[in-house]
Amino acid sequence: MSKTLIAPSVLAADFANLQRDVEMINNSEADWFHIDIMDGVFVPNISYGMPVLKAITQHAKKTIDVHLMIIDPDRYIKEFAALGADILTVHYEACTHLHRTLQAIKNEGMKAGVAINPHTSVDLLKDIINDIDVVLIMSVNPGFGGQSFIENTFNKVQRLKEIISINNANTLIEIDGGVTDKNAGELSKAGADVLVAGSYVFKSDDQPNTIKNLKQIANS
Ligand code: DX5
Ligand code: ZN
Repeated sequence: MSKTLIAPSVLAADFANLQRDVEMINNSEADWFHIDIMDGVFVPNISYGMPVLKAITQHAKKTIDVHLMIIDPDRYIKEFAALGADILTVHYEACTHLHRTLQAIKNEGMKAGVAINPHTSVDLLKDIINDIDVVLIMSVNPGFGGQSFIENTFNKVQRLKEIISINNANTLIEIDGGVTDKNAGELSKAGADVLVAGSYVFKSDDQPNTIKNLKQIANS
């Protein structure tokens, strides 16, 4: 079994010390940078946009995992590729022609991800699973860090794992929202490949050690 990866969410970083926090992730056992882009329309919050992502990618030395919580994401696919995104994830609920959007992301040389809100069934991805590199299961309602984990996520991970194996797909399962040391082990046992963690990492006193512990728990 491959290792469960850890993706700290930069949304919870100290923006006044962004370079310091990016270097902390570089020097830690974290695997990916998780970057949340919110438009204030698809979700009731606005995070940061292209200039901040550019500042992050100038220093980041690991995979850049961009989570778009925006309507009509097709408008910005080329721009995110140019800014250095390695994985571009769009929301199922925000795409009318999801298959086309995924192809457009791949045409720009990025891996294509699909995020689903807590109310969206993983079964809706059955017919497209072989086209998806990463499914991001939201384990809170998107828009804010620091919310509590929705327990039904475990069922969704198990069901998605079945869909992936029935279809012989190579899709990774990523979990986003409310991830802590309390659920990391069970999530990884259920089949999660990537765990996003924002507040749990950045609110801790020893961030590199928190990342290390989370990774250990997820892989024990
Ligand atoms: C929420 C974002 C998450 C968020 C997770 O809409 O997609 O990536 O940063 O934060 P925590 O880990 O604090 O729930
Ligand atoms: Zn996210």
